[in-house]
Amino acid sequence: MTAPTTTDTDRAAQYEAVLQRIDALLEGESDWIAAMATVACELHHSFDHFHWTGFYRAVSDDLLLVGPYQGGHGCLRIPFSRGVCGAAARTKTMQFVPDVDAFPDHIACSSSTRSEVVVPVLTPDDRLLAVLDVDSDDLAAFDGADQRYLQDLCDRLGQQFQATEQR
Ligand code: SME
Repeated sequence: MTAPTTTDTDRAAQYEAVLQRIDALLEGESDWIAAMATVACELHHSFDHFHWTGFYRAVSDDLLLVGPYQGGHGCLRIPFSRGVCGAAARTKTMQFVPDVDAFPDHIACSSSTRSEVVVPVLTPDDRLLAVLDVDSDDLAAFDGADQRYLQDLCDRLGQQFQATEQR
């Protein structure tokens, strides 16, 4: 018997469960590092297409510094001017990259990465706290469900941790 393919609907159902778990785990939590570590762990172990899952923190107006993550080791510092993470930080918008080879200036922290999604974590008053970076070794691994649910998660993190001191 062949394994069933994961459809957008299956993935959405998985996200509903994961985000509910994350909500419960973060309830009442005010420590931003603890929250990022928990989110990275929960997401990474819930989806087969997530091969690197973690946060880069905005520590100045032009620098991202690696935060809690799961997967192989990631680059430590990424300027806003570089790569997919830098583009997300600079533009404060989600970057959806089905093929990293087609993205000019992609930073190859891991040569196995083929596609990725990077979502900024913004406070309600538009301050950038971090970016959530999810990389896959599979080409075009992410779909509309990933975009919707990761955006929703990052919006909620931005609201919950708006008091976080970054620098
Ligand atoms: N994907 C990122 C680099 C970070 S790592 O791959 C962990 C980018 O091009 O911005």
